[in-house]
Formats: sequence, C-alpha cells, structure tokens
Amino acid sequence: MQAETASASISISPMQPGFGAVIHGVDAAHADPVTMAGVVEAFHRHGAILLRNQTMTPDDLMRFVRLFGEAEGHSLRHFTLPGYPEIFVLSNRIENGRPIGAHNDGVGWHTDYSYKEKPVMCTMLYAVEVPPEGSDTLLADCCAAYDALAEQRKAELGHLQLHHSYAHFMATREHGRATLTEAQKRENPDVVHPLVRTHPADGRLALWPSTGTVVEILGQDEPSDLALLDELVEFLTQERFVHRHKWHAGDILMWDNRCTLHTGTLFDDTRYIRTMHRLWVKGDRPV
Ligand code: SIN
Repeated sequence: MQAETASASISISPMQPGFGAVIHGVDAAHADPVTMAGVVEAFHRHGAILLRNQTMTPDDLMRFVRLFGEAEGHSLRHFTLPGYPEIFVLSNRIENGRPIGAHNDGVGWHTDYSYKEKPVMCTMLYAVEVPPEGSDTLLADCCAAYDALAEQRKAELGHLQLHHSYAHFMATREHGRATLTEAQKRENPDVVHPLVRTHPADGRLALWPSTGTVVEILGQDEPSDLALLDELVEFLTQERFVHRHKWHAGDILMWDNRCTLHTGTLFDDTRYIRTMHRLWVKGDRPV
C-alpha cells in the first residue's frame, strides 16, 4: 500500500488488520526530513511501526527518537550506553565478567514506566543481535480490546484506578529483583492511573491493565484483590488483539504505549545472545 500523508508518500503495509504499519524502503539513518515526517505520521496513525534492515549508530538512534518527542532517561542507569543516558541496553551478553545489559527485562504484559506520574509515550527497540528462535515481542491493541467489551462492562471498568508501585515491582518481579535505594524510592513515589485511558490525540479509549507494578485496584470493594487484572489481561491478550513480532537484526520496532501493552518472551539464553537498544519518548499523565 502506498500511503499518502500530509508530508510524504511512503510505502506501508499493515502489521495486522487495523493495527500497526510496516514501513518499506526507508533508511532511518539517512532519510530526508519529508520522508521522516511521513514515518512519524504513520506511527501516530497506526499505533506501531516496523522498519527492517536498519543500520543505526547511537547518534542515529538519538536523532531518530527525537523526531517523536523528548527522549526519556532510565531508572536503572548502569545499563545505559556510555555517553548515551537515554539508550538502555537489553542483553544477556557478558563482557569482562559483567553483563552489558538487563536480561529478560520486559517479560510480562505491561506498559513502560507505568509506575511514573507520566509513563513514556512510546518505546523503540533496535535489534543489535537476536536469537534465531524465541524472544519475540508481543504488542496488544488496547483500543480494539476496549471496543470489544460489552457496554455494561465498559461502564463497570470506567471508574476504576490502578495504584502502581515501583518498589513492589522491583521486589517481586521474576528477573532482576532488587530493593530500592532511598534515592530511588524518592525518585519513584507510588502513582495512581486509570484502568481505561483516553488517547490524547484522538480520544479513543484503551483498556490499560499494565501488570507487575499494580498493588491495588481502587474503586472496587476489595482494592487488594487483583483477580480482575488477570481477567482483563487474559481478555486483552487473545490472539485477535495481539501482534507477535519475530526479530531480525536491524529491525526498529516502535509502539505507542498509550494504546498498547507489550511483553517480551523468553529464549534459550544458554545457546543464544540477544542485544537490543531501547529508547523512550516522554509522555503525559494518563486521563
Ligand atoms: C520492554 O518491555 O521494554 C522490552 C521488550 C522486549 O525485550 O521484547
């Protein structure tokens, strides 16, 4: 499909019906500003974009991500690239006896920085080296899932709020558990976000039951009972709402966290290495 945008004509095909765009024939490190404006527009229109066969230096990645907004820093600074505090390394590679990145960091359905007052608007992953099998990234279309709910259910969920805690997440997650330092606690106070959020660009509603950081569901009789969260995640992650991305080195996958949840998946880390560069763009307070 040839997509005419206000600023450029770029070739795209859907990732899956009604969600996401695969952008063809664009070299993200060298494309002209008009082409890149078309890429940004495709991202906002489709909720996620994929560009294959890219070769990106850290400077290229920074230039690219800044087209979408202001780059966000990371809570865990020891896995950022030297000189690039906004480029976080996900990896199971060990160099000089030390891991160069966080391993299995994003396994479990979530949105990035759900525990911040302003979770990140979008996440970008650039595949440096990937296993031949496993380690897919899954994206769930939260607006399609919300639209598929019965009207009665929408009304029941509309007033619920999720209490998110970074300290709880780091103490209980499966991989890379840690107790926060006093400085980290001060930097990451608990926050409350709606379970159903409104996309600020077009007003669409999204079911947004990010997991891992939630300690309470406010507005229900028993806030500490998280069974509803499991039920909603099961609903949202049915095959009809989920795109499964199979990685190749050189892929750039970028998604809008205001209308998606995502999860990484495991791979045989005794045989394979996976290294990704992750960048974020600052977001707004969810409403
Ligand atoms: C993430 O959750 O930010 C990373 C997902 C992945 O590694 O596939």
